[in-house]
Amino acid sequence: MISPASIQEVMNRADIVDVLGQFLRLKKRGVNYIANCPFHNEKTPSFTVSGAKGLFKCFGCGKGGNVVTFVQEHEKLTYPEAIRWLADYYKIQLEETERTPEQQQQQLAQDGLRILNEYAAGYFHDTLLNTEEGQDIGLSYFKHRGFSKETIEKFRLGYNPESGEAFYTAAHQKGYSDELLEKAGFVKSGQRGHYDIYRGRVIFPIQSMTGRILGFGARILKTNDRAPKYINTPENELYNKSRTLYGMYQSRNAISKLDECFLVEGYTDVISLHQGQVENVVASSGTSLTEDQLRLIGQLTKNLTILYDGDAAGVKAALRGLDMALSQSFNVKLVLFPEGDDPDSFIQKQGAQAFHEYVKSHKQDIINFRMEVGMKEAGDDPVRKSKLVNEIAESVSRINKAEDFALQDYYVREAARRLQVDENKLVTLVNKYIRDRVEQDRKYDGKKETQQEANLIEEKPFEHASKIPDNVEQEWELVRVLIELGHRPMDGYAHVADFIITTVDSELIEDESAKRIFDDYYSYLQHYGKHPDLKYFTGNPDAAMQQKMASLFSTRTDISPKWKESFGIETLNGELNYVNEVESTISYFELKKIKVVQSEILNRIMLEKDMARMQALQKKHIELKQTETEILKKMGTVIVKQLKTNG
Ligand code: CTP
Ligand code: MN
Repeated sequence: MISPASIQEVMNRADIVDVLGQFLRLKKRGVNYIANCPFHNEKTPSFTVSGAKGLFKCFGCGKGGNVVTFVQEHEKLTYPEAIRWLADYYKIQLEETERTPEQQQQQLAQDGLRILNEYAAGYFHDTLLNTEEGQDIGLSYFKHRGFSKETIEKFRLGYNPESGEAFYTAAHQKGYSDELLEKAGFVKSGQRGHYDIYRGRVIFPIQSMTGRILGFGARILKTNDRAPKYINTPENELYNKSRTLYGMYQSRNAISKLDECFLVEGYTDVISLHQGQVENVVASSGTSLTEDQLRLIGQLTKNLTILYDGDAAGVKAALRGLDMALSQSFNVKLVLFPEGDDPDSFIQKQGAQAFHEYVKSHKQDIINFRMEVGMKEAGDDPVRKSKLVNEIAESVSRINKAEDFALQDYYVREAARRLQVDENKLVTLVNKYIRDRVEQDRKYDGKKETQQEANLIEEKPFEHASKIPDNVEQEWELVRVLIELGHRPMDGYAHVADFIITTVDSELIEDESAKRIFDDYYSYLQHYGKHPDLKYFTGNPDAAMQQKMASLFSTRTDISPKWKESFGIETLNGELNYVNEVESTISYFELKKIKVVQSEILNRIMLEKDMARMQALQKKHIELKQTETEILKKMGTVIVKQLKTNG
């Protein structure tokens, strides 16, 4: 297999105009290139290539795609073959990942566990529903908990008989080996042979995002027992607790549809909420959230609402994952249930309507919650208070500025108010934490570089990189807005990035690095079908590029007031609506480009001796003036919009 890093390198390097130019006669037409389509017969060209977007499209036969798609189609190659073709063309050394014997072994073990788990889930479920013991003990327990037949089936709940080795005997007869049964956590070997670990327990199968059974939770029924309440599958090749969320399979559609995920503590909370038609819920199963679990949720939504009971342990657990969630751009809310109640008991007792009302009226912002708790704890102690301020600043600094700078601004203001500290000082502190981390990441990535290169970076103080030459400042602003806001929705477009690419002529970007990032963004979007985040760009091995990224995203505290002033338009204080920000950034970019062309034309008018050509230039000059006025007018409306949103 070709390593993902190598594929990315090929994607970054491959220039669609260059590559397609090897096969077709491309003619420049505006920003794009046209040619006769190689995929169908035509006399007038309807095949278009956009260098900026990295895309080709034939308006005659409908074929379209990126540079890899083209090579695939044209040369009749598979995807990896096309990547190899391009790597060969650009003399890129591909990194190949061969599957090691260990990896093959792992795959085999996983397959075995998967098949066994599927069998076991069926056995337990069948025992629960169709045996006398299962019905008398297991089923009556679930009925007592208020679980309906549909719910029991939806979650494939089950029962393991009490006898001692009923499951072992059945599985053994089916041919499953002792070793596999032990590894899967079903049996143990004792003095009198193998026996069932889950005997006399009800069973909760734990499923993957796609419904595969990865493991089980087995709950004891007798309350006075010294045995643990739940026995869970041990970690094995298939079950990795920190990468699994209970309920994900049943909840994923609702989570993405409602754009919110409820996080609860236990299996029974998930099940009861589902039964009450609250289907956007998963459980972390008694531990605090891990980074991998957050990533699972993050594929579906960035709105996470933690539903815990109000005891101290639950609250502590809820706060533990906070910084991680913020780093992953989650918007985290907290709902605490009254002492002694959890979501399961609450919805069972009071019903779905009361549940929704309770959640709505008790939903609080988790950072604000943490500040409140912290302020109470700190009291008048200045040392503890200062520690709290630092902790909050650190948390706030983790909010991915690239994805949500408005949210970060909001928290800075909230924190300044609640903690009674100066807002500017807090901004400085937050930026210090961001810088520390960018610096750290850079050093970490930089380890791969030679010592010489590393020294070069050390000699260059960080601040130097933030000096972006004036004439390309708007270009970098455009890049920043693209990376920061590209994934956001935009009326009439797929997203902000789509709006930018249809509005801006990217050929106008003069700065090579800025242009490269701009183009990379769209190739990535095209290739992976999702937006690259800041890390993708800061991960660029080019040290100068990293510095630029870092300065672009970590030192900015306002939306470049300088270049707004330079066009005689006042900067407004307060928060900009992001749509306005996108629009005005594009306008400033266009305005700047017009200014450059205008001054060129003026120069030429002064030097021109030919009357006709002079007139043509003057006409062009007037046209440009008109465009400029239009843009300024558009900016005027943006500013009016800003005034409205601020007032
Ligand atoms: N848990 C566990 N082992 C335990 C106790 C708890 O693995 N000994 C995990 C389980 O995933 C459980 C979650 O922590 O679902 C929450 O614990 P708890 O609230 O005690 O369990 P519930 O699932 O709510 O069960 P019940 O409502 O029956 O008490
Ligand atoms: Mn419970």
